[in-house]
Amino acid sequence: MSKAAPTFTCTACGAATHKWAGRCESCGAWNSIVEEAPLSAGPKGATPRGRVVPLSDLATEEAPPPRAASGIAEFDRVLGGGLVPASAILVGGDPGIGKSTLLLQAAASFARNGLKVIYISGEEAAAQVRMRAQRLGLTEAPVKLGAETALRDILTTLDTERPGLAIIDSIQTLWLDSVEAAPGSVSQVRASVHELVTFAKRRGTAVILVGHVTKDGQIAGPRVVEHMVDTVLYFEGERGHQFRILRAVKNRFGPADEIGVFEMTGAGLAEVLNPSALFLSARDAPASGSAVFAGIEGTRPVLTEIQALVAPSTLGTPRRTVVGLDAGRLSTILAVLDSRVGIPFTGLDVFLNVAGGLRVSEPAADLAVAAALLSAREDVAIPPDMVLFGEISLSGALRPVSQTENRLKEAAKLGFTQAALPARSKHGADAGMRLRELADLTAFTGEMFGAG
Ligand code: TYD
Ligand code: MG
Repeated sequence: MSKAAPTFTCTACGAATHKWAGRCESCGAWNSIVEEAPLSAGPKGATPRGRVVPLSDLATEEAPPPRAASGIAEFDRVLGGGLVPASAILVGGDPGIGKSTLLLQAAASFARNGLKVIYISGEEAAAQVRMRAQRLGLTEAPVKLGAETALRDILTTLDTERPGLAIIDSIQTLWLDSVEAAPGSVSQVRASVHELVTFAKRRGTAVILVGHVTKDGQIAGPRVVEHMVDTVLYFEGERGHQFRILRAVKNRFGPADEIGVFEMTGAGLAEVLNPSALFLSARDAPASGSAVFAGIEGTRPVLTEIQALVAPSTLGTPRRTVVGLDAGRLSTILAVLDSRVGIPFTGLDVFLNVAGGLRVSEPAADLAVAAALLSAREDVAIPPDMVLFGEISLSGALRPVSQTENRLKEAAKLGFTQAALPARSKHGADAGMRLRELADLTAFTGEMFGAG
């Protein structure tokens, strides 16, 4: 057998290359490429023929195993309606964002509902986890606690105890003696997660794995193992903000893009059952540059405020600063406003922001973004009781988006009385609000700002 060529892996995104580089070509991270030991080709001298794997039919008489609910509604929804037995779930997020807090609370809730839960911490001593539990008022919950980083010992413990759910905090602390690399390296993290996922499938234990998002190339981030697990959740939020969003980016057992909203309080994470009200509650008095977007996050409508600021630039290349939205999308919308509507933003700095720390990825936000930009540029406020949604095509036309009715219903529930939306949107006869259905951006600009 020829000697395998060395492979290099990006510790941030997991991309593999054949040569080392200072910057990853896939994700653009600096100094994140490390050499990785080649995967073994299996034991030497093994017989070339494998054994026959027993096959079965798709049809079965057995009912699917029931999902376990934690009782934390926001958490269960993001999982797709509860925890699927034998599934592997990865929870990623920045250090200090609240992953351990969330999972300790979830562990306690599952345990109170009768599931056998083991929480293994590789980062904190058992006493520290107990202290946190005390602060959160969870000491009564029958959760079994362990502080360990040796994966072999963890697997033996899990095999003896056979819990319904095992939480491993975090994958970057685990080490497997058969892998010659430091804990946290790509090969250790991959091998450990592979072992845990295999264990989950064989023994029917659900595992939740915590992974820190890292900027440091020495430690592998959760993205290098995303493909191995059933469900990938990211816990996001701004450090200064108290809101935290748990977002499903991959889910074999439920809708992706589902979000759960939490608030970090002195007594741990509290659920936010009506995020629209929360995101809009901090709204300032009606001012120019603000537009309310009626969006859909996963299966639920969520209203958010899009804020824009436009100011004369002193720079040769004006600033384009975006928080919570795609920067490329902003460029597209600015280009459409310039070429199709005749409103240029040349020589102007543009700042765009989604209030409350939410990240919006729907193209349906286009119209609200354009409205906020125009409103800021013209210094004309958008009526405070209006929501907007619709995709902008490159021709300047407005395209209908999905779930028009749900968006309108949520807006009506929160006291909005009018909506700007694309013509030919599908909705019932009585939407309960005044609808301004517009064919294109020029019509919208004419109606809202009296200019074209
Ligand atoms: P933690 O769960 O340790 O984060 P992670 O596991 O993602 O690294 O959360 C730590 C932060 O949460 C810390 O800054 C303090 C804050 N916190 C509260 O505000 N209230 C609480 O009740 C707890 C337990 C933590
Ligand atoms: Mg932690």
